[in-house]
Amino acid sequence: MNKPQPRQTRLYKAKRTVSIVGTGSYLPERILTNADLAKIVDTNDEWIVSRTGIKTRRIAAANEFTSDMAAKAAQAAMQQADITADEIDLIIVATITPDTVFPSTACTVQKKLGAKRAACFDIVAACAGFLHGLEIANNFIANHGCNTVLVIGAERLSSITDWSDRNTCVLFGDGAGAAVLRSRSGGHGIIATHLGADGDYGDILAMPGGGCRNPITKENVDQRLNTIKMMGKEVYKQAVTSMLTASNLVMEQSGLKPKDLACIIPHQANMRIIEAIAGRMGVPTTRFVINLDKYGNTSAAAVAIALDEANRTGRMKLGDYVLLVAFGGGLTWASLIVQW
Ligand code: ACO
Repeated sequence: MNKPQPRQTRLYKAKRTVSIVGTGSYLPERILTNADLAKIVDTNDEWIVSRTGIKTRRIAAANEFTSDMAAKAAQAAMQQADITADEIDLIIVATITPDTVFPSTACTVQKKLGAKRAACFDIVAACAGFLHGLEIANNFIANHGCNTVLVIGAERLSSITDWSDRNTCVLFGDGAGAAVLRSRSGGHGIIATHLGADGDYGDILAMPGGGCRNPITKENVDQRLNTIKMMGKEVYKQAVTSMLTASNLVMEQSGLKPKDLACIIPHQANMRIIEAIAGRMGVPTTRFVINLDKYGNTSAAAVAIALDEANRTGRMKLGDYVLLVAFGGGLTWASLIVQW
């Protein structure tokens, strides 16, 4: 794969500093355990826990869609940030499971929040989508295009999961996380970011159907092209390499070492991926924020939900350095260091 290049990394020093001033998350009520999955495919709790670390995941109700979860996470973030809907200039929703191809889920969320002043769009960067959204928000605010941006990662992966494929159905869950970004006095905020991609590896993690290449026809649905396809071992290798390189790039750019990081919030795909990264960075896994045991992999929502949990449980104190890093289908990857 393309090695992430330093020239793509941006270091923010002289501009308006952009801070995360509120976070929120929402998880659907229904819990699907490994024992429940063992009733529908040939699997067991021991295999799933030892290979992935996942014990349970949340599944959205039949009438609960990505925009519903996104709006609930957003309301929690807005409440914490103490802002009203009419203060929001821009809503970005990162998702690979939009309510509809169009209108965007961001427009649907705008309606649910009553945020009539906000411009709205969705972005597709799979599991790295929330971090792409934070970087876009960072630029809009730093360059004075916006004052208040709402970034949401939200997924209803249960609707694109092949529930007959034990290789993938044990991995995913539903949920949403959100952050409100603003310029804040005191200089604390995002200090380095990196985004990257390598389209040559698009086939190792994809949903081939539903677009114009394989439209929704009976034949394509019968072949389950409207579900997630994954080459697990290849994804594992690329996830470790790209998240490690992306982490090192933002640390180098900001002059920080792993020991300087109060906590690391990684994409929640698989415990073994996190352990491999921790080992190579020389950081104990206790420094990582991990909730994949409870929620599985919620793609674009994963880092957003973990960020909210870390924030609400006091993992970050004012002035702490926090690394966020993710990897997703595309391939895409992203990293960001924020001084909390
Ligand atoms: N239960 C029981 N057995 C299973 C299951 C299951 N759920 N799934 C696969 N197996 C079997 C396989 O069929 C295979 O059997 P075989 O040897 O008879 O053919 C055996 O277990 C070993 O399969 P492997 O694919 O070699 O298992 P591996 O140890 O590589 O683990 C896993 C698979 C967990 C998917 C791993 O490759 C991985 O972690 N990949 C990373 C991918 C990932 O986390 N993706 C999430 C989405 S990507 C993202 O978010 C960025």
